[in-house]
Amino acid sequence: MKTIVIANHKGGCAKTTTALNLAIVLANQGSRVLAVDLDPQGNLSVALGTDLKELESTRCTAHRMMIDSRGDIAAYLTRARPKLDLIPSCLDHDAETLIEGQPVSRDLLLKNKLAAVRTGYDYCVIDTPPALRAPTLNALAMSDMTIIPIESSNFALVGLGQVMRMVAAVRKAHAPKMIIMALSTKYKPRQTVDKEVRAQVEATFKANMFESWIPDAAAVNQATGIGKSIYETNIASPAALSFFNLANEIRERFGNEKVGLEDLAGAESEGLNARYPQERRS
Ligand SMILES: Nc1ncnc2c1ncn2[C@@H]1O[C@H](COP(=O)(O)OP(=O)(O)OP(=O)(O)O)[C@@H](O)[C@H]1O
Ligand SMILES: [Mg+2]
Repeated sequence: MKTIVIANHKGGCAKTTTALNLAIVLANQGSRVLAVDLDPQGNLSVALGTDLKELESTRCTAHRMMIDSRGDIAAYLTRARPKLDLIPSCLDHDAETLIEGQPVSRDLLLKNKLAAVRTGYDYCVIDTPPALRAPTLNALAMSDMTIIPIESSNFALVGLGQVMRMVAAVRKAHAPKMIIMALSTKYKPRQTVDKEVRAQVEATFKANMFESWIPDAAAVNQATGIGKSIYETNIASPAALSFFNLANEIRERFGNEKVGLEDLAGAESEGLNARYPQERRS
C-alpha cells in the first residue's frame, strides 16, 4: 500500500477536493483504495456518503481508531464506492485531546494501526485538516507521497516555507522515502496571477511539481456539493481528465503502470459509472 497524504495548513486550497477526486479516480482505474479523513470537519466523509450525526453517536472515527487499544480496525471501515473504503471523521474533541497527549510515538499511531490492512489496498489517500498538528503529523509519518495543493491566488505562497520545513522534518524522522509534490489547484490558465503563482511554485519545486493542474471549474464544486467526484458527474470534462492524468502521474512516480483512457470502458461498466448512469448520460 502506497500512502498519499494531501496536506497544507492553508485553508480552502482544495485538499479535500483533491483527496475525494483522486481516491475515486484511482479506484475507478482499478486500484483498491483506502481513504482516511483526518479532518474533524468531516468534509471528505460527507462527500463519500457518511452521515455525520450517526458518526457522532457511533464515534467510529479515524481519531478514535488511533487511540483504540484493541487494535481491530474493521469497525472503523465503511464501503464508500466499489474498491474504495473510508475511515471517516467528525468533531470529537476528546479523541483529539487524547492523541495530542500520547507520550510515546505519538506521530506513529496511525501508521501502527493501518499496518494490519496494508496488504488489502494499493493506495491509501489521506485528507488532513488545515493545521499542522498531531493528526497531520501522523499522516506525514506514514506518507510515501505528500501532495501540497497550492491554489492559484495571491496568498497561496504565504506560509508555504513553514509547511515545507514541517514536512521535511517528519520525512527525516519517520519517512525517508517520502516524495513531496506540489499541485496547482483551482487554476485559471488565462489569469496572470495564476500563471505567476504557478511559475513561482515551479521554481521552488522544480521536478517535484505535477504537470497536471486542476482547473477552477464550477462543476467540481457542484459535484462535491452532491457527494460526488467530477469524474462521476461529468467524466468528459477537462477537470475530470485532469484528475485522471494526476492519478497516472502518481502511478508513474511510484514506478507503476499508467492506466489508458481506453482501459476505462471496461472499468466503467463494472464500476462507478454503471452506478451513476444518469449523470453519465448528461
Ligand atoms: N477545481 C476547483 N474548481 C472550483 N472550485 C473548487 C475546486 N477545488 C475546490 N473547489 C472549492 O473550493 C472550496 C475549498 O475546497 P476544499 O474544501 O477542497 O479545500 P480544503 O483545502 O479541503 O479546505 P479546508 O482547509 O477547510 O479543509 C470548496 O468550496 C470546493 O468545492
Ligand atoms: Mg478540507
